[in-house]
Parts: sequence; structure tokens; C-alpha cells
Amino acid sequence: MLQVRRLRGGDAGAYQALRLAGLRLHPDAFGSSWEEEADRPLATTAEALEANYVAGCERDGALIGIAGLRRATSVKTRHRGVIWGIYVDPAARGLGVGERLIAAVIEQARGQVEDLLLTVSAHNATAISLYRRFGFEDYGLDHRSLKIGDGYVDELLMKLDLRPA
Ligand SMILES: CC(C)(COP(=O)(O)OP(=O)(O)OC[C@H]1O[C@@H](n2cnc3c(N)ncnc32)[C@H](O)[C@@H]1OP(=O)(O)O)[C@@H](O)C(=O)NCCC(=O)NCCS
Repeated sequence: MLQVRRLRGGDAGAYQALRLAGLRLHPDAFGSSWEEEADRPLATTAEALEANYVAGCERDGALIGIAGLRRATSVKTRHRGVIWGIYVDPAARGLGVGERLIAAVIEQARGQVEDLLLTVSAHNATAISLYRRFGFEDYGLDHRSLKIGDGYVDELLMKLDLRPA
């Protein structure tokens, strides 16, 4: 059975293990890298989970998917939020976990921010089609957004308008 809930400080171990697995397996899907996060103390991760909204999806009590919401803080940009760090364990893909996580973050963001932004590797067709299903629209293409070794990754910029109709 799948259950989505907000992760808290006590979930830091499970969260960090899943996040590191994602960074290792899909270096081109995230702005951060395994090397940068592998030694992060659990206490730092626990603090971040208390301070920010991160949704987790569990199957039979095991964490299998994660997605975060970051809200801008300055006066002129705090009407915007960013959805980041979306990752589903390979053994649990295609079951709607990603869909539930995005839905949870959108629900959390609605009423708090007017625009929800994200960036996604331009070649990540699965993720892009998932975001489009929720109404995210492309607003730009960032060439050479990530540099991994000698290679570059272009990223698609997507936005969802959350203002009430
Ligand atoms: C992108 C990612 C998060 C999607 O997670 P997921 O849990 O597999 O997503 P969903 O199951 O909700 O949807 C993915 C696909 O499964 C299909 N699907 C959803 N529910 C389904 C079901 N019950 N039965 C069969 N297929 C289903 C969807 O139609 C979708 O297919 P499509 O790409 O052809 O449209 C996951 O592939 C992942 O972690 N990838 C690596 C990291 C990454 O790319 N993160 C995004 C960074 S921006």
C-alpha cells in the first residue's frame, strides 16, 4: 500500500539513503551531486526536513519516493516556489508514485505561492510527460545548464500557474 506524507527530522536516515541512491544513479537528473552530499551529517538533513516541506512516499513502511518544495524568501520573489529533488526508487516506477508526490507538493504549494517552477533535463521524457500532465508548461530551454565531466546537460524550464482562476 502506498502512503504519501510529509517527512520530518526522524526520517533523515531513510531520506538521505534514497536521495544518495538517486544522485548516484542519475547524475544528469539533479543539480547536486553524490560527491557533494555523501558526507552530509544526518543532523543537517534532519534540520532541513524540519525547515522545509519534503513529501515522501512509502510502500509497506519503506521510503520509495521523495519530492521537495522550496519557497523563495525575498519580498519580490516569495510568490514563487520550486519543486526539486523528485526521485522514485527504480523498483517502484510506473506505479504512480511520482504522480502522487507531485500532487502532494502542488497541494502544499497552492495558496502559498502563485507559480511553481521546476527544471528537468531536456532528454528526461518520462519526467517531462509527468509534469505536463499536471499542467506544467515550458517557458525556456537552458543550454549547458549542467556540466558533468566534459559533457553538458540542457535543462527545460517549466512552470505551473497556481493562481486561483
Ligand atoms: C521521473 C520519475 C520521478 C517518475 O516516477 P514514477 O513513479 O515512475 O512516475 P509515475 O509512475 O507517476 O509515472 C511515470 C510513468 O508511469 C506511467 N504510469 C503511472 N501509473 C501507472 C500504472 N498504474 N501502471 C502503469 N503505468 C503507470 C505513467 O503514465 C508514466 O508513463 P509515461 O512516462 O509514459 O507518461 C522516476 O522515473 C525517477 O525517479 N527518475 C529518475 C530521477 C528523475 O529523473 N527525477 C526527475 C528530476 S526533474
